[in-house]
Amino acid sequence: NTTCVFSPVPICWFFGFYAKHISLPSQDPPGGGRVFSGIQPTGVPHLGNYLGALENWVTLQNQYPSVIYSIVDLHSITQPQDPAQLRSSILDMAASLLACGIDPEKAILFQQSQVSEHAELSWILGCLTSMPRLRHLPQWKMKSKLKNEGSVGLYTYPVLQAADILLYKSTHVPVGEDQVQHLELAQDLARIFNGRYGHLFPEPTALLSSTRKVKSLRDPSSKMSKSDTQAMATITVTDSPDDIALKVRRAVTDFTSEVTFDPETRPGVSNLVTIHAATAGIGVEEAVSQARGLDTGAYKLLVTEAVVHRLTPIREEIERLRWDRAHLEGVLARGACRARELAAPVLREARQRVGFC
Ligand code: TRP
Repeated sequence: NTTCVFSPVPICWFFGFYAKHISLPSQDPPGGGRVFSGIQPTGVPHLGNYLGALENWVTLQNQYPSVIYSIVDLHSITQPQDPAQLRSSILDMAASLLACGIDPEKAILFQQSQVSEHAELSWILGCLTSMPRLRHLPQWKMKSKLKNEGSVGLYTYPVLQAADILLYKSTHVPVGEDQVQHLELAQDLARIFNGRYGHLFPEPTALLSSTRKVKSLRDPSSKMSKSDTQAMATITVTDSPDDIALKVRRAVTDFTSEVTFDPETRPGVSNLVTIHAATAGIGVEEAVSQARGLDTGAYKLLVTEAVVHRLTPIREEIERLRWDRAHLEGVLARGACRARELAAPVLREARQRVGFC
């Protein structure tokens, strides 16, 4: 994909003209498939995002011939967002993804709202989705209940997610377990569209991200989450070594001093073992054996060391990139241009099938 390499903006204009006036063939994914995934612009990711998803994203960009990652800002406004905060969270997420190892030469990295084809395909797919199909999806049930009422956008969130995936004829979608039902909707919608209008979309397969589930440091029965109200519950990838040491020291454990791995009966200590193993790049058994002879207090120092060692280069790179807003915006502009090159012909084909042109 060399079209966008030199100067994204004029070539985009040219491409817009080209796409409007010249019929392009659909951009089928190369043999070996196409990966698509999205992450909300929550600012800087936390350790759970990094170990549970982003590390895997970095691996996938070396394994698949075509890889697309999107910062899904259209999804994020299904919850109220302060505009200035949203803008800076988008750039922070872009900086973080680059710092974690996403390589814009290998993967297309872009901001969802910059490719308006997402919203348009979402409308078409929404017209193929029944209301009851969405009512039972867990995210709607949970989030609309919290607020006592939810917006139409929150309700149709999974349809937009299906559009994200199908717009690129994606074949593989790395997601966490909490997204499996959303992926099933994308599969259903591919099938429904293909059945009604003729085959266009492959049915995407979920690539379940690793079993490494990082839990809250304060309540190991729940996931580590950005929205946790307790600051001590979450380690973000830009936390200083002192912050990390403090949070690990305060992490909930139990009254047994020996270190073992048993998530059912000892969720707190086991969470530390998970974090240690994942950040040190070793297996859980190896982590437990390194802890032999240490009580949980001493073990926490070892865990801190592993986390600090792993996150320091990422933190430093994010800090460097944050000063270079023009670079971040350039990466996203070029990513959007490349994404549009793939999306435009697919949407065009979908529009034709529906009978718009
Ligand atoms: N809903 C996903 C999440 O909250 C984010 C997302 C949006 C996504 N569009 C996607 C994930 C497409 C995979 C594919 O994690």
